[in-house]
Amino acid sequence: MNRIEPFQYISELKDHAGAQVELRGWVSNRRDSKGLVFIVLRDGTGFAQCVVNEESVGAEQFEAAKRLGLESSVILWGEVREDERQIGGYEVQVSKLQVIQDAADYPIAKKEHGVDFLIENRHLWLRSTRQWAIMRVRNRVIYAIHNFFQANGFLQMDAPIFTGNAVEGTTTLFETDFFGQPAYLSQSGQLYGEALAMAHGKIYTFGPTFRAEKSKTRRHLSEFWMIEPEMAFYDLDMDMDLIEQFIKAVVADILEHCKQELETLGRNTTFLENAVQLPFPRVHYDDAVRIIRGEQDVNGKNSIQTLEADLEALRAKKAECEKEIAEREAKIAAGGMKKGEVNFNQNKIDTLKNEVKDLDEQLTNIPQWLESARNFEWGGDLGGSDETVLTRLFDCPVMVYNWPAEVKAFYMKRDPNDEKYVKGVDVLAPEGYGEIVGGAEREDNIDFLIERINNEGLPMEAFQWYLDLRRFGTVPHAGFGLGLERFVMWFTGIQHIRESIPFPRFYGRLKP
Ligand code: 4AD
Ligand code: MG
Repeated sequence: MNRIEPFQYISELKDHAGAQVELRGWVSNRRDSKGLVFIVLRDGTGFAQCVVNEESVGAEQFEAAKRLGLESSVILWGEVREDERQIGGYEVQVSKLQVIQDAADYPIAKKEHGVDFLIENRHLWLRSTRQWAIMRVRNRVIYAIHNFFQANGFLQMDAPIFTGNAVEGTTTLFETDFFGQPAYLSQSGQLYGEALAMAHGKIYTFGPTFRAEKSKTRRHLSEFWMIEPEMAFYDLDMDMDLIEQFIKAVVADILEHCKQELETLGRNTTFLENAVQLPFPRVHYDDAVRIIRGEQDVNGKNSIQTLEADLEALRAKKAECEKEIAEREAKIAAGGMKKGEVNFNQNKIDTLKNEVKDLDEQLTNIPQWLESARNFEWGGDLGGSDETVLTRLFDCPVMVYNWPAEVKAFYMKRDPNDEKYVKGVDVLAPEGYGEIVGGAEREDNIDFLIERINNEGLPMEAFQWYLDLRRFGTVPHAGFGLGLERFVMWFTGIQHIRESIPFPRFYGRLKP
């Protein structure tokens, strides 16, 4: 577009070294020392240190700068200096300053807040550096997803949100009133995607989906965004090929375009790089069960032995931390230390205590994982801990395929070689992130499909239009669904899904 703004953005400072700029933004940090005020300005495109010198701006503006509260809105004019020690690599020497609004008592201070407080103030929390970086990664992920599908001949379609069909089971439906008629908020656009695939060959949906799970986990939202490609004339193997190429393309894009954000988030990118380089292992469900139970090794690694070794290592680590805490406490208690030294030791003790808390959490988790892994029975769905136990043995995402029919949705194609199984696949992300994709070849045989709909107790009437897709030119076809927020979680390395979406909706959270 032609330039509209009469001012510059922080992201453009590199083009203005030695020149004058006008920046408009918010005070994300401020400190002063004799005759100088240091403002870290943020404007949405980045962060930059701006130095207000009393001699350059005069007493009145300098006093105003000194009083600025966090998140005050300002316009600053000044000269850009290259300075690699500064955030972003540039600094602005301010010659003039105008306050748009002086904000007092910004509720999110620099000190640690509990997550409940931050979520309650989500509308403000989004301004913080970490949240800013996460939203930028999310934006790029969305862009890369559209890029991939648009470049590869897929048509984007919008599925309806009000629907009469349950897709992913009847227990997680949000019921609404559609002009006096019951309707559900869509759990998945898939069934409508199948209709469009029969009209356009390869399509994808990208829309909001809803699940009424009354449980709080770090991986579940009530409202999340799903990407659902659907391809005519694809079988499960082709589906898995597509999933792998798609994930590799998006990961490569993020590694290339979100370097700064991932660095800000302190993300170790080893596993992301692996996902681009290494072929994704494809593990039959039966093998997954044996691996989880410790009956089958993966590259010489055994699930149960790995967990037991981890448990030992964590116990040793905890003992080490506790020993150091005791030693430092004894030193302080002995007296005779300078104040700075006491503070230094006290800080170390606080850090160590936090570490012990983390270790304790893992020390309670792992025995439960062991228990669940040892007793895992063929025929069950993988729980979060089973997914973790399995994926820890691999260096990149894993695809588990051919699932027992009972644990999967009605639309999955039964395996003609063994009808105990359906041709479904789950993609599990490493590092404890678990399922990010669920997909399948679809049942294209109308008789089997009717049988499954009846067995699930679903209302046949609501599925007549879907059955038409099998009546009129049925073909083998397949597709998958990727949960955007699970994907963003894995990229950014965050521990809870609520930070992956601007305004999260989950059990118990409707505000702000
Ligand atoms: O495995 P799911 O339920 O599959 C489907 O909905 C299929 N109709 C997809 C298809 O084949 N077209 O969900 C797909 C993905 C999951 O792998 C997960 O990433 C995400 O959607 N997901 C959730 N994300 C956040 N919160 C929830 N409650 C989620 N439920 C599923
Ligand atoms: Mg699933």
